[in-house]
Amino acid sequence: MGAPQTSRAALPPLPATARVGVVGTGAMGAGIAQVAAQAGHPVFLYDQQPGAAARAVDGIRAQFARLADKGRLSPAQAEAASARLAPVDSLAGLAGAALVVEAIVENLEAKQALFRQLEALLAPDALLGTNTSSISVTAIGAALQHPGRLAGLHFFNPAPLMALVEVVSGLATDPAVAHTLFATAAAWGKPPVHARSTPGFIVNRVARPYYAEALRILQEGGADCATLDALMRDAGGFRMGPFELMDLIGHDVNFAVTRSVWSAFYHDPRFTPSLIQQELVEAGFHGRKRGRGFYDYRDGAQRPAPAVMADQPRPQPGCIVLWDASDVALALADRLHARGVAYTWGEGTAPADGRIAQAGEGVLYLTDGRTATQRATQSGVANTVLLDLALDYAQAPRIAISAAQGCWAPALGAVCGLLQAAGFEVSRLADLPGLALMRTVAMLANEAADAVNQGVCDVAGADAAMCLGVNYPLGPLAWADRIGLAAIGAVLGHLAGFYGEDRYRISPLIQQRIYAGKRLHE
Ligand code: NAI
Repeated sequence: MGAPQTSRAALPPLPATARVGVVGTGAMGAGIAQVAAQAGHPVFLYDQQPGAAARAVDGIRAQFARLADKGRLSPAQAEAASARLAPVDSLAGLAGAALVVEAIVENLEAKQALFRQLEALLAPDALLGTNTSSISVTAIGAALQHPGRLAGLHFFNPAPLMALVEVVSGLATDPAVAHTLFATAAAWGKPPVHARSTPGFIVNRVARPYYAEALRILQEGGADCATLDALMRDAGGFRMGPFELMDLIGHDVNFAVTRSVWSAFYHDPRFTPSLIQQELVEAGFHGRKRGRGFYDYRDGAQRPAPAVMADQPRPQPGCIVLWDASDVALALADRLHARGVAYTWGEGTAPADGRIAQAGEGVLYLTDGRTATQRATQSGVANTVLLDLALDYAQAPRIAISAAQGCWAPALGAVCGLLQAAGFEVSRLADLPGLALMRTVAMLANEAADAVNQGVCDVAGADAAMCLGVNYPLGPLAWADRIGLAAIGAVLGHLAGFYGEDRYRISPLIQQRIYAGKRLHE
């Protein structure tokens, strides 16, 4: 079975005059109805709770009025979109719909029962969409006489603001239905990606390591939450760090998604939930909405500051030597130059062991997934200091380092002084393999590569989903290409060796591309 393509389908979208039905008018259903009405469709809303559909319509109309106040819609557009919304008090009110999207309770039997009723009610060519985030579209469709007409139409919360829609094909979904829904989502201003119905689809699966690696580093005492969050934002370019993001999503929700993906993959250790998060759930510390999560949101509570190394003396002239023309070394050179700090290039004056820089007695290398101590023991360079990944070494305001156990304090201080002189805030992590950002990006890319390898989506779809669905600064597969697949393979291999766990096994797709000397995007 080939991977679904992200390219725009040849089939046209549903015409804007086509009636759209929405069942379940909570947060998601109301958001989807808003999007469809704004795109020009007459939209009929039904909720089993009496009065809920009418309340949702009032809420959406208030949203349209706000958009008009802000100038995002003209008053006439807002009025027309509002007039296209109609609550109905029974499913029968959806009878003329060309598409019905379901956003009811996340329960297989409830969804199957609803679609059976809809199938009896709607025209034979009407399309059915489910907004489920964790139930198999194949399983929902199994209850239908014509499962080909059902596909997942997975919006992200809040639907009017989040760009992505995953168009999810179950085993029996008619490709023409998936393509029509794809084109329709695009016409609604929501860039779609095709996905096959597998646990977590694309985003909820590929994003797991963003939380899982941070939780693991925290659990092993690698760094505290505030430091890891700051590194992911400032060095990684992510909008939110993993801990503040979990606090925002809610640990009950985030933990449930992790558990659901983990169980659905028969307890694959890639997805093993974290005991730390389980404990937060048990304590009722669900995050912002409960006033407590990893951080304290109660009145008067102060957000802890990230740990940074104390200011070191500015390196003396002649003390800094840079090696190799890697992006990292070139960015360091530019940053030092811009701040009037002298350095020399050291080509040929030391072993070609991949070192980036030397400051005093300290030698700086980019992490390859070995711990600093392991690397120092293998290389004989006792004063080994490791640098973490940055999205953009030229601009990042913060960077993480780790040091070998035998590293002499003045040597570490000199390397820290170099990085501070180059304008970085420097956070020292415990000597764990792959530091923080490198191991996270390697694992995100590994998961995305496995999704591609298993035909869930294609390479472009995986990256688009992560950028549009959860605002990643770069698609994980494009990021892996940028770092170099051999380097990603080394990081994963060293993580697997260090922990001896299947969790870090390399995706066959990455392995194959390394053997072939190819990139993922080609
Ligand atoms: P919600 O609890 O806010 O709203 C669900 C609504 O469906 C309620 O108004 C309820 O009265 C109604 N309902 C329940 N069973 C019904 C039935 N049999 N017939 C008609 N109406 C029924 O839930 P929310 O958050 O809007 O989620 C809805 C769906 O969207 C779920 O499948 C969920 O997994 C999915 N989803 C949720 C996201 C989120 O972040 N909340 C994101 C993406 C998908």
